[in-house]
Amino acid sequence: MAQHVRGVIARTKNAPVELTTVVVPDPGPGEAVVKVQACGVCHTDLHYRQGGINDEFPFLLGHEAAGIVEAVGENVTDVAPGDFVILNWRAVCGQCRACLRGRPWYCFNTHNATQKMTLEDGTALSPALGIGAFVEKTLVAAGQCTKVDPAASAAAAGLLGCGVMAGLGAAINTGGVGRGDSVAVIGCGGVGNAAVVGARLAGAARIVAVDIDDRKLETAKKLGATHTVNSASTDAVEAIRELTGGFGADVVIEAVGRPETYQQAFYARDLAGTVVLVGVPTPEMRLDLPLLDVFGRGGALKSSWYGDCLPSRDFPMLIDLYLQGRLDLDAFVTETIALDEVEQAFERMHAGDVLRSVVLL
Ligand code: APR
Ligand code: ZN
Ligand code: ZN
Repeated sequence: MAQHVRGVIARTKNAPVELTTVVVPDPGPGEAVVKVQACGVCHTDLHYRQGGINDEFPFLLGHEAAGIVEAVGENVTDVAPGDFVILNWRAVCGQCRACLRGRPWYCFNTHNATQKMTLEDGTALSPALGIGAFVEKTLVAAGQCTKVDPAASAAAAGLLGCGVMAGLGAAINTGGVGRGDSVAVIGCGGVGNAAVVGARLAGAARIVAVDIDDRKLETAKKLGATHTVNSASTDAVEAIRELTGGFGADVVIEAVGRPETYQQAFYARDLAGTVVLVGVPTPEMRLDLPLLDVFGRGGALKSSWYGDCLPSRDFPMLIDLYLQGRLDLDAFVTETIALDEVEQAFERMHAGDVLRSVVLL
């Protein structure tokens, strides 16, 4: 029997979000219904609301979540009712060329639920990033559920479902930060600060955090940055070079998504160093670089997709580190809020007041 639950939707472009009744069907083959316990508020939810992703309104927002599997459909073997899971927005097929070539984060056939959640009048909802988790219960593909140790708090676990994983993975997976490396992180919001934590976990000797907001730099320092640079008043590239013996960093992680910070990242790395781009630019942005610098500096220019993570490999491992006290996910939860406070959370996010607001259900 379909269930009627409360959820947060964006009905039309740029209208404030609404708390309304969402109809969740029983799980069909390969699907699961998850009782959501926590869901972080991410920039992408705001982009959906603003019509910046596509115009398939109404959207069921929220995609950074953890909860308990309530029911599964036919042919579901990896998760069962009662399992504590983190939801992911890229459940990979394991069979396409990208998967077979060992790059599943570029999978061509990621799985989402086949059935649609709807409004009470039958209008189909578009779930944000194929999830939709600002809702008491959500319908997803079973492959979007990764079982982790239930001892973890739902608020912390959910963060691995998007922004924090993007930052951790940019350092650990894409950047391949190693013991003794020098790392610079440009932009220390939720994503950049997670990259700081990832660099520290990976054994970086020196971690330079760069931002234009001193509040973010203070957090970066608490999370493991060895040096901070406020680039509103200081030249970021020169400061990073100075702090790395005149060379530049082995790995520079860009977590803003603007041409000037992409450019800083490019020049702040050591010769043959790696630049990891995790900040998402807008379609009109351009980067203008002398080709000789591209050629002459060598190394690698990489972008990082969802932290190049493999949920089944990375989520349980990171939750173990969290439970051992080696990965402070709680530091990213600035505030916990109720389902009807998402709109205010967008405002605080926009003002730069929070790393993450997390809805608890
Ligand atoms: N130089 C340095 N830092 C900057 C600059 C700049 N020119 N402009 C903004 N920042 C800082 C902000 O002060 C903020 O701390 O970048 C940070 C951005 O953080 P958030 O707005 O919290 O965004 P976050 O969730 O961390 O995501 C960052 O990564 O995955 C992408 O889509 C995401 O593009 C976004 C980026
Ligand atoms: Zn997100
Ligand atoms: Zn695939």
